[in-house]
Amino acid sequence: MAYVVLTGASAGIGEAFAHQLAQQKQDLILVARREERLQALATELADRYGITAQVVKADLAQTDGAATLAETIKASGWAVCGLINNAGFGDRGDFDQLALERQLAMIQVNVSSLVALTWHLLPLLKAQAGSFIINVASTAAFQAGPKLAIYYASKAFVLSFSEALHEELKHSGVAVSALCPGATESEFASEANMTDTKLFDGSVMSAETVVRHSLAHRRRAIVIPGLLNRLMVWSGKLSPRFITRRIAGWLQA
Ligand SMILES: NC(=O)c1ccc[n+]([C@@H]2O[C@H](COP(=O)([O-])OP(=O)(O)OC[C@H]3O[C@@H](n4cnc5c(N)ncnc54)[C@H](OP(=O)(O)O)[C@@H]3O)[C@@H](O)[C@H]2O)c1
Repeated sequence: MAYVVLTGASAGIGEAFAHQLAQQKQDLILVARREERLQALATELADRYGITAQVVKADLAQTDGAATLAETIKASGWAVCGLINNAGFGDRGDFDQLALERQLAMIQVNVSSLVALTWHLLPLLKAQAGSFIINVASTAAFQAGPKLAIYYASKAFVLSFSEALHEELKHSGVAVSALCPGATESEFASEANMTDTKLFDGSVMSAETVVRHSLAHRRRAIVIPGLLNRLMVWSGKLSPRFITRRIAGWLQA
């Protein structure tokens, strides 16, 4: 049986992916920094659903984090039929007041490690019929985001990269999807210092609903869970950019 590699499996959307895939009898490779959480999750998934869940501790903020992870997977001889690049974080504040190191780590996790892991694992994915990649972007991908400038830019990259790969790999059997959730219940808001924003004060979707939507449409290029989120993205496309970036800034002031 081939595995789905799932980064950021220790919390939030990643943990919900782990549960729903395990329920579908899918074996998993769970990746994050908090190893104890991953071990507990792997045991729970094995007991509840009878699947095999491997645990690999990895820090994707390190420049060689993705390469080391890919080497571990290859050296173990594990076949891979899916990759979910879900690990990511944000950091709210004025760009010049935030720690540069954390902004650069964000680019490493949200962008560079996502690209590197995709590159390293594509040969394994191509070897399996019907395989897939889900890159977790965000509705933030569709406009600029004052107070979260790097986060929004990183998600715009993920969306653009995923759409391009979707076309490139169309006839290779590897489906590529950009998942673009809006505000979702997880540890993200507290990690990003966003719990007191209008964005997270409004309607927040459960991680389970986001993941159900993503998995049901995993062969689509872009998946935006929730009618309200889709309406916001569509109306944003009809509006001048100075309006959409101001609204984004207002939502997270
Ligand atoms: N929640 C939202 O409102 C929302 C909306 C749109 C998009 N998203 C995106 O959804 C994805 C999942 O976020 P979430 O909402 O589930 O947030 P979360 O609950 O904070 O989970 C983030 C996951 O990423 C992992 N991670 C963070 N830094 C890492 C690193 N350096 N190395 C390895 N793993 C790392 C964390 O694991 P460890 O800490 O154990 O390493 C954790 O498992 C992210 O890409 C996020 O940008 C979230």
